[in-house]
Amino acid sequence: MTARLLRGRTLSFKSRPQARDDEASYIYETDGALLVENGMITAAGSYAEVASKAPAGIEVIDHRPLLLMAGLIDPHIHFPQMQVTASYAANLLEWLNTYTFVEEQRFADAAHSARFATLFFDELLRHGTTTAAAYCSVHKGSADAYFTEAQRRNLLMVGGKVMMDRNAPEALTDTAQSSYDDTKAVIADWHGKGRNHVAITPRFAITSTPAQLEAAGTLAREHPGLLIQTHLSENDAEIAYTLELYPEAKDYTDVYARYGLLTDKMLLGHAIHLSDREMHAISEAGSVAVHCPTSNLFLGSGLFDLKRLKQHGVRTAIATDIGGGSSYSLLRTLDEAYKIQQLRGHRLPPIESYWQATRGNAEALGLVDRIGTLEPGSDADIIVLDACATPAMAIRMETVTTLEEELFLMQTMGDDRSVRHVYVAGEAVHL
Ligand code: GUN
Ligand code: ZN
Repeated sequence: MTARLLRGRTLSFKSRPQARDDEASYIYETDGALLVENGMITAAGSYAEVASKAPAGIEVIDHRPLLLMAGLIDPHIHFPQMQVTASYAANLLEWLNTYTFVEEQRFADAAHSARFATLFFDELLRHGTTTAAAYCSVHKGSADAYFTEAQRRNLLMVGGKVMMDRNAPEALTDTAQSSYDDTKAVIADWHGKGRNHVAITPRFAITSTPAQLEAAGTLAREHPGLLIQTHLSENDAEIAYTLELYPEAKDYTDVYARYGLLTDKMLLGHAIHLSDREMHAISEAGSVAVHCPTSNLFLGSGLFDLKRLKQHGVRTAIATDIGGGSSYSLLRTLDEAYKIQQLRGHRLPPIESYWQATRGNAEALGLVDRIGTLEPGSDADIIVLDACATPAMAIRMETVTTLEEELFLMQTMGDDRSVRHVYVAGEAVHL
């Protein structure tokens, strides 16, 4: 039995903020505390209230004046692309063929995968990301390395062996049958081991034959509780080629729908260039549109249409998409998302952004009963944030008087330096 009491300012979301002043959507304690017992949050509230419930003599870790929040969640990231970030390309398909499909071949090697699993989780945690949904490579061994390391660190991680059986180098392709068999094996070996969650992961329509999407659909039917992740409508040339490969589909979204993959478990990375029909279909299915702002700007893919997606009732998430994305930091990612929405004439309130990176992303993963909030009963994945992390931030903070201003400053100027402490299942992580 381990127990400790974390004291500081605490912020946790109850629902998606409907306006910048929607105070009913969150709980903010200026002198708050969290009681953490056996890896879980067992009480939250004001320090006075929580301290009165704590066992006598409990260890108190005083983080005042820093801000405690639920660990950040990155619902779209590529584990084998740490050495792809910052690759110079004109567009998505050139970037994939020139750099990404070359680099991912190295994950055929178990030692390489193991090395990068360590580096990957180090980097996520340094940036305050305590849960991610990652694409591994096509090799089952890359998923083994990913989940082995996640379990060793007691992290709640989602991941999947990528299914891809065409339009990629031979060393990076499986077959419809082997992708089915390997995914089955990854599920049997890893789903529910420690805090691990396996996702069915057909990379995207271009790299899957109809037979492989059929196999992915079969997996989805056989494992209805599992998340599914893929890419959708990121780039104009990608969309055109997809429609050539699947001429019978009404549109790109319909490709996935035809194989039973458009469900409320589906995470659709990018989802930028969508018709009203597609948004309607995605909304009806309850699938999630995952905004990857740094990637969309870096690859010149386009501007996520958050306002229209919300009008259609589409569930949303926000993610880094490393290595198309250019930062591991969800704070940097929120900043870029804000700027994209500025260009779209849609001003994003800071509280909505922080809701999205925590509770909102947890809801997108169907994991809000475990992560994304500071509510009692949640796993104690907690970060401690500092809005004065750099000299320039500290100077700007001299004029900040509200929580909204502080959050906005931290997303605009902050990065990993604002992440001062991280707890995973109640245990402090050495950053
Ligand atoms: N579409 C298919 N694969 C990928 C990938 O690895 N990154 C991005 N950004 N888009 C993709
Ligand atoms: Zn991606």
